[in-house]
Amino acid sequence: MDTPYFVIDKKKLDNGIALLENALKSNWDNYIIGYSFKTNALPWIINYYKNAGCYAEVVSDDEYRLARLIGYKENKIIYNGPMKTKDTFMEALMNGCIINIDSKREIQWLEDANLQKKVSVGIRVNFDLESGCPGQSACGDEGGRFGFCYENGEFEKAIIALKKNKNVKMTGLHLHCSSKTRSLDVYRQIACMACEIQEKYDFKLEYIDVGGGFFGGLANRPQFPQYIQLLSEILGTRFNIKDTALIVEPGMSLIGPSVDYVTSVIDVKVTSYNRFVVTDGSRIHIDPLMTKSSYFYDIQRHKAGGEVINKQVICGFTCMEHDRLFALMDAEELEETDKIIYHKVGAYTMCLSPLFIRYYPDIYVDEGGRYFKVRERWTPSNYVQNSMLEIKEER
Ligand SMILES: Cc1ncc(COP(=O)(O)O)c(C=O)c1O
Repeated sequence: MDTPYFVIDKKKLDNGIALLENALKSNWDNYIIGYSFKTNALPWIINYYKNAGCYAEVVSDDEYRLARLIGYKENKIIYNGPMKTKDTFMEALMNGCIINIDSKREIQWLEDANLQKKVSVGIRVNFDLESGCPGQSACGDEGGRFGFCYENGEFEKAIIALKKNKNVKMTGLHLHCSSKTRSLDVYRQIACMACEIQEKYDFKLEYIDVGGGFFGGLANRPQFPQYIQLLSEILGTRFNIKDTALIVEPGMSLIGPSVDYVTSVIDVKVTSYNRFVVTDGSRIHIDPLMTKSSYFYDIQRHKAGGEVINKQVICGFTCMEHDRLFALMDAEELEETDKIIYHKVGAYTMCLSPLFIRYYPDIYVDEGGRYFKVRERWTPSNYVQNSMLEIKEER
């Protein structure tokens, strides 16, 4: 198999979803798992989660259409985010999808629609996670930007506007919060917020959608049973399992730990500053936002017992100087054909990579030691698809 390539460990995928389902079954046995497309929408992966019984959690017209294309049933879609289009919004609404309203224009679309039948929608709550969990929310003092703000009355205004529409039933709350810590505290705040809102407005809610953002596959971090047990304890004070479903939208916790990226050393270059180990992989494939400061990795050397080198800087194939992955300290020298295998790189990697210099690499699935290709490496022909080489038609 030519490097670089991604490899998805099917057994880890199976284990991840089984752990989550068991946690839900034993704590809140009325649940929906919506697999977060944005985290990794490789067609094989989204088809895998469809077959596992998950809903598609989508946040744009393209993701919505992708879910339909891959064969998600017309109502097994959770449609979130501000990037819905009016036509997909209306289609999803009529098909009975779970739709969480995120912006005023969606309320307007409902008004304009002159609905002839009763429809259900949920609403995304924007609340002050930072006050409840100082230092933990993704945006700190700048605050999150999704949903309707609970504290300043925007949420209430949205509720009032929805209530005016006789054919619209508000049936759910969406409370996803992105955090730096993925801690249990975050889910405590989410569950408390759901209870507070229910109490204040006396809502009869068919679902509480707590979103994604869980840890998965890391032994020293919270596990699914802890998250779900905590949610269940708090939600159980105001909701009952029979009437109100718990929706989770995991991405990272399921797909993150299940993917490796295999690269080879192609050159070693010594300058007066550093010893650079050039590989055929790149940060753009496993850290496209260039934010990671460390990686889980293993090294496979073609021979043991090489000279121990004080510092070797592992670099990617691009011509960007900052395509440097890590510094390997006090380790045996790396040579051409040695392999570096990065682990737990399934989330926000493949789906965020740019088509820069080299195109998307091969992707395999490892099923009990047998490897199956699930995406062919992109070539220039894939790159030029949908492009016009000559100007022909005025739009
Ligand atoms: C609304 C929503 N749901 C689910 C997720 C998935 O989060 P994660 O991949 O961290 O589990 C996100 C990520 O930003 C999100 O915005």
